[in-house]
Amino acid sequence: MRIFAGMMIVSCIALIGCSDGQDQEVEVQEQSAVAQWTTVTPEEMSETQKAQHELCLAATNAFASEMMGELMAALDSDDPTAGITVCGAKAPAIAAHIVEDYGVKIGRTSQKLRNSANTPPQWAEQTVAGQVGHPTYLIGPNGEFGALLPIRLKAQCQMCHGTPEEIDESIQSALAEHYPDDRATGYAEGDLRGWFWIEAQPGETTS
Ligand code: HEC
Repeated sequence: MRIFAGMMIVSCIALIGCSDGQDQEVEVQEQSAVAQWTTVTPEEMSETQKAQHELCLAATNAFASEMMGELMAALDSDDPTAGITVCGAKAPAIAAHIVEDYGVKIGRTSQKLRNSANTPPQWAEQTVAGQVGHPTYLIGPNGEFGALLPIRLKAQCQMCHGTPEEIDESIQSALAEHYPDDRATGYAEGDLRGWFWIEAQPGETTS
């Protein structure tokens, strides 16, 4: 049931269109500490970990729905490139208040990045490289809780992540201007586009 609930949330997350730029700071993690992160299934979680899990899902849901609202509003406007502004400019502000409201670190990542600032935290690298297509949870050496929730491509994402034929020329040139190293095109509906990563700190949900 918990897995099912997770899947429902992930399919909601898959509707989100942009990212946040909150993820650079985790790059300073020690390599030795990363080796100590181990995966945990929802069935194996302790009460504290279950609470951390719920917090991660709630934060992701809030992030996803707010981003989706902004993206849809932008896409309703006359300028087809407006969505790109949402991704680049509004996403960090939304992520910042989610971080404050929920006390978690949150971001989006991919195995084929559009923005190299969306590189995964070290604890997430293996799952991303292995392109694991189901929700994955990891416990850190100090009781941190990490979640990776897959994002699959929807039809409405193709205007910015599909094949060159599916992407309007105005969007292609805006992408080329802002993201010269863009690798995030050529996706079809249902493809694994990337993941939300969320990290809850130890002990903050133990009340
Ligand atoms: C209007 C264009 C546009 C649409 C529509 C769009 N995206 Fe994106 N997407 C972007 C841009 C621009 C970025 C880079 C954002 C940044 O600078 O962090 C991005 C980044 C991402 C990332 C972060 C990883 C990376 O490659 O940097 C994911 C994941 C993602 N998009 C998934 C989706 C999904 C899923 C959808 C459909 C629900 C979608 N996008 C719809 C433009 C778009």
